[in-house]
Amino acid sequence: MCGIVGFIGNKEIKNVLLSGLKELEYRGYDSAGLAVLQNGKIDIFKAVGKLKNLVDKTANYAPTGFAAGIAHTRWATHGKPTEINAHPHQGDRAFVVHNGIIENYMSLKETLIKSGAKFVSQTDTEVIAHLYDHFLRDLGEPKAAFARTIEAIEGAYAILLLDEAMDGAIFFAKKHSPLEIGKVGGEIYFASSDAPLVGICDSAIYLEDDSWGWANASEIAIFKDKEPQNTPAKPLPATQTGAQKEGFRFFMEKEIYEQSRVVGETIMGRVAGDSVRFDEIGEGFLDGVSALRLVACGTSYHAAMTACYLFERLAKIEARAEIASEFRYREAILREGELFIVISQSGETADTLEALKLAKKAGVLTLAICNVDNSSIVREAHTAILTRAGIEKGVASTKAFATQTMVLWLLALLIGDRRGAISADLMSREIMAIRKSALALQVREETHDLIRRMTKRYLYGHGFFYIGRDIFYPLALEGALKLKEISYLHAEGYPAGEMKHGPIALADAELFTIALMPRAILREKTRSNVEELIARDSTLLAISGEEFPLADDLLPIAASDHPMLEFYEMMVAIQLLALEIAVRLGNDVDMPRNLAKSVTVE
Ligand code: AGP
Repeated sequence: MCGIVGFIGNKEIKNVLLSGLKELEYRGYDSAGLAVLQNGKIDIFKAVGKLKNLVDKTANYAPTGFAAGIAHTRWATHGKPTEINAHPHQGDRAFVVHNGIIENYMSLKETLIKSGAKFVSQTDTEVIAHLYDHFLRDLGEPKAAFARTIEAIEGAYAILLLDEAMDGAIFFAKKHSPLEIGKVGGEIYFASSDAPLVGICDSAIYLEDDSWGWANASEIAIFKDKEPQNTPAKPLPATQTGAQKEGFRFFMEKEIYEQSRVVGETIMGRVAGDSVRFDEIGEGFLDGVSALRLVACGTSYHAAMTACYLFERLAKIEARAEIASEFRYREAILREGELFIVISQSGETADTLEALKLAKKAGVLTLAICNVDNSSIVREAHTAILTRAGIEKGVASTKAFATQTMVLWLLALLIGDRRGAISADLMSREIMAIRKSALALQVREETHDLIRRMTKRYLYGHGFFYIGRDIFYPLALEGALKLKEISYLHAEGYPAGEMKHGPIALADAELFTIALMPRAILREKTRSNVEELIARDSTLLAISGEEFPLADDLLPIAASDHPMLEFYEMMVAIQLLALEIAVRLGNDVDMPRNLAKSVTVE
């Protein structure tokens, strides 16, 4: 959510900043901006909308020589996506970019206005610039002024600040929002995630919460509670992978096609013969674990829900899934013996990260299932399992979900095995199914073509219901979420058996029901629920491995006797369905309106 880049050095600074932003654009694309400080003068550019608009606006701007610069791509939280609200924000001497939310900005703003500050934007960020100027006037010294600024603000932030009178320097601060620093010779790079630094720096300093400081060509000074810190750098991956569309129309499409391969990688080294192992989980780690609590947001929450069925069915262990933003404030009771599992593609989702911190504070054991090594969630949890999906660029998550559910399925088997809840025969059947998953996830061109043609009948109407039972219920939720995110059509996921308790009142020919109809589990029960809708004339698209003549349309998948294989087949189908509907509606599939890839505000 929002992206931050900064640079101090002798390179072509505009290009460094813009190419850094390019890597982060999928995290927020309401507006973008940059500021470059050189010889006591700041040049600032802002543009509404995608990064390309800023690129066009700065086409004739080509500063050379030593300079310091900051840049930002925005996902609007306070104030509309206008040029005025785009970052950097400025005071008299201060220019600021910020990720996160300053929670006490209203009271700070009132005080600053009374002391003469002139605000132009509706953002919370602008208070940082005026606050800095205010303390600078009071204290007469930039470092002290910045320290006081950070003391005064509350909330979540990653901040970079330029002071017009301090050539070659950038102030920085971090709390609950990621920020890292890389150094190559005399050049210093800042970024809110690894991507802009990969391929340039070998390692990065991941700032800890409440850290602040400044950097210039000769030093990077980091403080926490006024104490100097010596935060060590950690290695960065050597190359950027998976960041090209490789002939696909969209990253999302490429990522759907990649699922078969990446799930194969998720399994690699974790299944041996008829047993499961995770190197990340030490011998005694699961000892004493008697219940599981899974906490996540969005698609990752759907993976958590799916996993609860698997944990209880296969491992015979109590499992409960919760939405992180709800968990945080409901004064939940955590019991001794609970393993607290957080699931996150990005590893930076604010609600999930804060839920994890709460659990750690309560003294329970924590495990992160995450796609991004070195992310805040991975660093915070007691241990972490990486999902190995590779970089996921499409805002609508696809391959991350596939790999999350695979890790969770494997974990259910591991826990079941350690608890003695799984017979050798069941284990062997499960492992066989796991080995077949990559095949179930392969996109068949004829299915994709059929979906492409079929979608023309599913563009209008008054809404979509995705329905399913058991693990197909969270999959129905996921199907509806995918459609909402990129097509902007109203869709709901519902347990098929629950439709008759109210939502069936909506059924008519303009209500599109997408029915997930597996063979392997609750086949007849699901059929009955679907027939109840057909009787009310709902237009029905059945996704099934079996014939279902009552359906208006049938999207055929390969039938299987294992529900997870049907789950993966159907997952690919609902992802492609959402994709092709969005394409027909002319939407930007990879960067849908109002969204951002990683949600680092609560
Ligand atoms: C999925 O398509 C979403 N864009 C969104 O719901 C996402 O899954 C959610 O924000 C959680 O993100 P995370 O997995 O990075 O924590």
